Amino acid sequence: MPRTGPTFFSFPADVLAHSAEVAAVVADLMAEPASVSPKYLYGPLGSRLFDAITELPEYYPTRTERALLEACRDGIAHAAGPAPTLIDLGAGNCEKARSLFQALNPGQYVALDISVDFLRQTLIQLQREFPQLEMLGIGADFSSGLRLPDAVRHDNRLFFYPGSSIGNFTPEQALTFLAGIRAECAGAYGGGLLIGVDLVKSEALLQAAYDDALGVTAAFNLNLLNNLNALIGSDFAVGDWRHHALFNTEASRIEMHLEARRDLSVHWPGGVRAFRQGQRIHTENSYKYALTDFKALLAQAGFSRIQAWTDANNWFALCHAIA
Ligand code: AVJ
Repeated sequence: MPRTGPTFFSFPADVLAHSAEVAAVVADLMAEPASVSPKYLYGPLGSRLFDAITELPEYYPTRTERALLEACRDGIAHAAGPAPTLIDLGAGNCEKARSLFQALNPGQYVALDISVDFLRQTLIQLQREFPQLEMLGIGADFSSGLRLPDAVRHDNRLFFYPGSSIGNFTPEQALTFLAGIRAECAGAYGGGLLIGVDLVKSEALLQAAYDDALGVTAAFNLNLLNNLNALIGSDFAVGDWRHHALFNTEASRIEMHLEARRDLSVHWPGGVRAFRQGQRIHTENSYKYALTDFKALLAQAGFSRIQAWTDANNWFALCHAIA
């Protein structure tokens, strides 16, 4: 019998959590240098802009990972074992997990995303296409730790963290996060992790991928200001800012910034901040790893039997490891 539809959970921010969130955002904005967490890039428009980025000729990660998932799906299915509970971290449009359904034959599909309305629309559609698969949607910000409702099965959990979103964390934060995933697999049932990671490559390729000719990445970055205005009631004018992307060689990361086009002030209830022309707000880090370093990180987090698949250019890697 077909299911009625996906079940949804969200960990709604209560009033207290909301004011704490606003306070944290304001503190980062007032800091020197100013920064904003990359999670505020996403929302109804931001998630669509990110989808558009993944179609850009310069943005190689998505299509490279997609090809890897397709080429390696039998190996992945073999490594994952039977009927995994597939837990998709940052599911977005769910397209990558969907491409694995046939090979993995999951017992349950659990999709998490910070952009809950976007996820809901995607999952309702996906459930129509796969009426027999039990689906659970979870609106959650897991950037500061993973919390799963009891409805998530414990059988053979396969955490799926594609897209190199792990690159948003510093390596130290990534280690903590990976160890947390491993803890969620622990116990008699076992499980594993399938994770995508972007590799170090020429600076020109990286630069183009994060500053595309059409300006979609610029729009994605600038739209963060709209999200901030909605969240903290600020009066950022998008036209006063420009997108800036750079590769920080020492830290091995792409950085996105928003740069003030002129001297200006931004106001919000209870606060104000002046920016000089050229002054920047740091909005994202996207770490690029050497494959050996990333495997070492997985091992340090407690994972074993690490397997890696890479494309012919060695631009991107897909790793599976046992918890
Ligand atoms: C979704 C975090 C993997 O770092 O490449 C794309 C986000 N930022 N273009 C990335 C992003 C600018 C993306 N991740």
